[in-house]
Amino acid sequence: MEIIRDVKMMQQTGRSFGMEDKSVGFVPTMGALHEGHLSLIRRCKEDNEITVVSIFVNPAQFGPSEDFNGYPQDPESDMMKLEDLGVDLLFFPEKGNIYPDGFSTHISVEGLSDRLCGLYREGHFRGVATVVAKLFNIVNPDRAYFGQKDYQQALIIKRLVRDLNFDLEIIVCPTVREEDGLAMSSRNLYLSEEERAASAVIYRTLIEAGEMIRSGSPMSDVGRFMELQLKGAPMIREIQYASVYDPETLEDISMTDVNIYVRKRFLLALAVFIGKTRLIDNILVES
Ligand code: PAJ
Repeated sequence: MEIIRDVKMMQQTGRSFGMEDKSVGFVPTMGALHEGHLSLIRRCKEDNEITVVSIFVNPAQFGPSEDFNGYPQDPESDMMKLEDLGVDLLFFPEKGNIYPDGFSTHISVEGLSDRLCGLYREGHFRGVATVVAKLFNIVNPDRAYFGQKDYQQALIIKRLVRDLNFDLEIIVCPTVREEDGLAMSSRNLYLSEEERAASAVIYRTLIEAGEMIRSGSPMSDVGRFMELQLKGAPMIREIQYASVYDPETLEDISMTDVNIYVRKRFLLALAVFIGKTRLIDNILVES
């Protein structure tokens, strides 16, 4: 595996690697790699001749009171995992290389960025959209892989690609979970043993709410069930959102009188704090 730390070098290597005649797949990450990340990389390897992974903890997507400084990092172990998977190229830039002095251009995907997590993480999706657009320009892939775990992020990236005519395909891969259903996340490392055990309620809530939709319960009952179930669970300190959403617009549809025979797909999504750790999860349900 080749490791590249410089932007210009990455752009030139793309050319000298013969990447222009080969299909290039790209998996952007912030490191602390777990099975969720690795599943994207495996899929990328299946679909493409060359696989590029990036590791960059992007300061622009963290709010002032968020965990940028404590964000888990383990480059040695990450590199071993990437080698084992047969990744061709790791792009691992320094912060100053991505954000040179005087950096002042940003991308905002309006509307979609203002809902769900956007209401609680000001500037987060602007930071994500900006860095992902930069990474696409630097790596120049044919396909890029994102996890459904961050459903809103993937939707925003798809919109960005469409609106700004990036010539690449976005592929969204299923959420990888622990045995008790907890979605894998680098942030799970923050959980104490007790918090970790309590966090199983998140996926259970989504699954039970999904069953309610499939059995035709009114949307308002589904939304209320999610709130109540989480409120009653141990260790949950705050519920930021937990409801039924339109999977395309992210509009909260729990209070609308939805005819489930007309509308076929529903997004169930939530964000909660367990102790100091913010966890998000979602599932798509077909009625
Ligand atoms: P990060 O949180 O490291 O995640 C990198 C990719 O892995 C994202 O597409 C995310 O959705 C996916 N992923 C995380 N956990 C997953 C799981 N349990 N199952 C499947 N996929 C999972 O998301 C980011 O980094 C950043 O915002 C980034 C896109 C790199 C921009 O900085």
